[in-house]
Amino acid sequence: MQLLSQFLKHQKTDEQLVDLIATLMVACKEIALQLREGELAGVLGTTSNTNVQGETQKKLDVIANDVLKKLLLDNPLVAGLASEEEDDPVPGNPDGRFLVTFDPLDGSSNIDINVSVGTIFSVLERTPGEDPALHATYLQNGRRQVAAGYVLYGPSAVLALTTGRGVNFFTLAHTGDFILTRENIKIPTQTREFAINMSNQRHWEPAMKSYVGDLLLGSDGPRGKNYNMRWIASMVAEVHRVLTRGGIFSYPWDAREPAKPGKLRLMYEGNPMSFLIEQADGIASTCYAPIMDVQPAEIHERVSVALGSREEVEILLSYHNTEK
Ligand code: AHG
Ligand code: MN
Ligand code: MN
Repeated sequence: MQLLSQFLKHQKTDEQLVDLIATLMVACKEIALQLREGELAGVLGTTSNTNVQGETQKKLDVIANDVLKKLLLDNPLVAGLASEEEDDPVPGNPDGRFLVTFDPLDGSSNIDINVSVGTIFSVLERTPGEDPALHATYLQNGRRQVAAGYVLYGPSAVLALTTGRGVNFFTLAHTGDFILTRENIKIPTQTREFAINMSNQRHWEPAMKSYVGDLLLGSDGPRGKNYNMRWIASMVAEVHRVLTRGGIFSYPWDAREPAKPGKLRLMYEGNPMSFLIEQADGIASTCYAPIMDVQPAEIHERVSVALGSREEVEILLSYHNTEK
């Protein structure tokens, strides 16, 4: 039985990074506790506020954001943070080393129906001298992440973590420790499972329509095999399934808001998930380029996402590269 802290030490992870990850896990444990109490703690339902994304904030979006913010700002290693639920970056210790970007509660439409949600985080190193109160300080591409992960609050709470040396799962025990439960995750290269919000089909690009159309034809179509579909509406849960048994997940650009490249956010969802997926030998793409190569122009920027089993994502990309 190996604790998260022992595992990271064993991997010779930078001690300050271990310290920061420990802080993130204290926050996630607190969020897990609040979620478990649910209605008993009066934490379900919505607030009267909307966030910078124009989405109505759930009470738990705000609670999770406040828990993470407080604990991270108490850690002197944190120079600043950017959150899906904060309009602007929040500066921390002016001498701090790390910048943390996060989606405090992903899949929050699932809260009130008691279905899985998660916390997604990404850790960057501040370029010395840059001001953590400024948006520009955070605009690093995904290749510069030093750690990323999520905690899935499902039947059990599971941390998926990468520090650039593979992906490992840790399960939250009743003792409050995260314990290594699956080591060196590798995504199967092929799959028969896809996840996409089919109700948006009419808004997609022709390439995506054509790719999914061929999946739906099953063994009668060019793919020659039958596919199954899943949609949990919680990216953390979808990515956890992909990491665990393979699959392809996409939230692509669509024509409803043509100026935005999709629904998901590059710095809070796209980049951290892409780091995990690539570290597990999968592909994470905008359908035209690796997500982690996208240079962010704005902290709340959106990105088109297609990720998962290598061979399946490559086929999806081929539909985008050739006119079909
Ligand atoms: P968030 O709750 O942080 O706003 O993110 C929700 C995201 C993502 O988790 C999920 O894949 C997607 O939105 C679900 O979208 P639909 O509502 O279109 O199903
Ligand atoms: Mn989210
Ligand atoms: Mn969220």
